[in-house]
Amino acid sequence: MTTQPHEPPTEPPTEPPTGQIAVDWSWTASEQEWIPPEIDISKPSAARMYDFALGGKDNFAIDRQAVHEVGRVIPDLQACAQANRGFLIRAVNAMAELGIEQFIDLGSGIPTSPNVHEVAQEVRPGAKVVYVDNDPIVMTYNRALRAPRPGVLALDHDLRQPHGILDDPRLRAHLDPDRPVGLLFVAVLHFVRREMAIKVVEQYRRLLPAGSYLAISAICSDGMEPASVELLEKVYDSSPTPLVVRSRSQVEQLFDGTELIEPGLVDATQWKNDENPLPIRILGGVGRIV
Ligand SMILES: C[S@@+](CC[C@H](N)C(=O)[O-])C[C@H]1O[C@@H](n2cnc3c(N)ncnc32)[C@H](O)[C@@H]1O
Repeated sequence: MTTQPHEPPTEPPTEPPTGQIAVDWSWTASEQEWIPPEIDISKPSAARMYDFALGGKDNFAIDRQAVHEVGRVIPDLQACAQANRGFLIRAVNAMAELGIEQFIDLGSGIPTSPNVHEVAQEVRPGAKVVYVDNDPIVMTYNRALRAPRPGVLALDHDLRQPHGILDDPRLRAHLDPDRPVGLLFVAVLHFVRREMAIKVVEQYRRLLPAGSYLAISAICSDGMEPASVELLEKVYDSSPTPLVVRSRSQVEQLFDGTELIEPGLVDATQWKNDENPLPIRILGGVGRIV
């Protein structure tokens, strides 16, 4: 996307704070000369900030400014975003290996290659995926880049309404509601209030067939500098989705009613992987609904 005509004169750097990008972005590099009215560029958006941290181009000056503010205190921000994405890829792969053929990606974010459908279909060529997000920019890209692919549906919903999503006739026509699902909450529950997140996850757990899996990654304050937690929360306070940082036990609570598969709830960098934890601690786990 070309954003130059809309930018203020004090444009922050267009490169993420640190690190190299190992992702092929050519398929998202379409030119956009206009911004739909529903896209608010007066506030940073979680989807666009994350896109910038991953090295994407679908973001605006306000988003880059917010990411650079974090990057001044927390180095390796880009590595943290990539570590989270790495967890997502390994979790989808693991669930597909365990027999899951249908996935719902809640808070899917701006398309990032490899997408969930690409990872799942690598293992199970007939796998079906429903992408859900409530940010208009994500829906714009979902419609253009994900939805035209076989087995893929993109829906505009707020994940805090499990019935609205699971009863959506488009989802029910796309997936088999009686068969297990891989439900992804990757880097999204830290945008949902603590009590609300527990209730929402529990509702999904009750509504999905036994044998379904929940994959969750969430920022965790244990092991993080208090100043870093404070800064992260401050930066996201100016966005429409304030950040909720949880303790380890609060993240564990989200998996109630499930059996964690190996290696349990661990740092995202170490989930079926062997890398050192990063400055923004992100815990990841996959639980089987029992
Ligand atoms: C940090 S991105 C994570 C993207 C992707 N899950 C990943 O981990 O690579 C968080 C996404 O969640 C979306 N989001 C936040 N709150 C949401 C809500 N209540 N309902 C649906 N999507 C939401 C944001 O719009 C954003 O696209």
